[in-house]
Amino acid sequence: VKLQDLPTPCAVVDLDRVEHNVERFSARARRLGVRLRPHVKTHKCLEAARLQVEGHFGGITVSTLAEARCFAHGGFTDITYAVPIPTDRLAEAVVLARRVDRLNLLVDQTTTVEAAEEVARATGSSIDLFLEVDSGGGRTGVDPESDDGVRLAQRIAASSDLELRGILTHAGQAYDCRNRDAALEVGTLERDVMTGFAARLASAGVPVQEISVGSTPGFAAVGDLAGVTEARPGNYAFFDAFQAAIGTCTLDEVAFSVLVTVIGVYPRRREVVVNGGALALSKDPGPVHVDPDCGYGVVASAYGTRPIHTLRVVALTQEHGVIRAAGELDLHQLEVGTRLRILPNHSCLAAALHDRYWVARDEKVVGEWRPVRGW
Ligand SMILES: Cc1ncc(COP(=O)(O)O)c(C=O)c1O
Repeated sequence: VKLQDLPTPCAVVDLDRVEHNVERFSARARRLGVRLRPHVKTHKCLEAARLQVEGHFGGITVSTLAEARCFAHGGFTDITYAVPIPTDRLAEAVVLARRVDRLNLLVDQTTTVEAAEEVARATGSSIDLFLEVDSGGGRTGVDPESDDGVRLAQRIAASSDLELRGILTHAGQAYDCRNRDAALEVGTLERDVMTGFAARLASAGVPVQEISVGSTPGFAAVGDLAGVTEARPGNYAFFDAFQAAIGTCTLDEVAFSVLVTVIGVYPRRREVVVNGGALALSKDPGPVHVDPDCGYGVVASAYGTRPIHTLRVVALTQEHGVIRAAGELDLHQLEVGTRLRILPNHSCLAAALHDRYWVARDEKVVGEWRPVRGW
């Protein structure tokens, strides 16, 4: 099968680029001296995860219990579910934990810790926990400056039904960066906040073994992770238009794209409409802090994936993508039936809308990956 034969819209994964990206971050983890526990939420499929862990200890990070179950079934035995565990899924997590060597759950609330202790006691099991720390992202995690975080760590450590495996953070503010220098600062801050908090815990009688950090922009830029034990970048397997805009990768490294077809040409508006809307690309506003006119992704040639910077995806509805030309619309190059490739702003969200990815090498389809869906 060739790319030309695929029905559109469809998700295409460039295998050469995935292999290159995985090797790039794998080498970085070795150079920085940390264990790599890649996040698999971007692609959610076994094949890509197996490439990511090659040469490493084999641990992965997941964003749903559905992923944890699927990857456990696929042979992964050391899994961190890196979203605070909802109390109504604790019992299910305990059952799943019995099938693997290690299932780490994330907590930052006393109520959740108490619920976990109750479930552990009722089921005669011990639950492995990471305490989440807010290193400036402002989403979840305990405040590393407050005493509450130390008390919660002590509460977990004192429980005979719970194991405090370590502390974990995701400095999500790395996505507000405009360039690599700014991401280097975030990556360094993330390290310092975590090693500082670990030192506070140690002096409060709770030494922790694992210090886990990680985002793709921070990990790509940071120069030194002394004191940190593991990193969890994930987006790098595919990268996307956002990462290219903030300097984490080049457009040539973006491995995930959506193949679309022109379904209407409107020369007076200098626009064409393609069959890739919000349900094929996702509606992530993208790196507007770097380029306010970035639109909903980068338009590229269907074959060869060469960026066409004079075209912008200016609007999306459910099944329509509106592409506007900066100058005259070239009616010969963009007629009904013309195919284009869109590199979405956020590959994690765009990929999650597709129930299969066509895997291509040199424009030839060499495989088909089926991601896990749901929660
Ligand atoms: C807790 C956690 N760890 C790691 C990651 C991976 O970061 P990135 O998507 O920048 O690779 C994420 C991403 O959202 C996350 O939420």
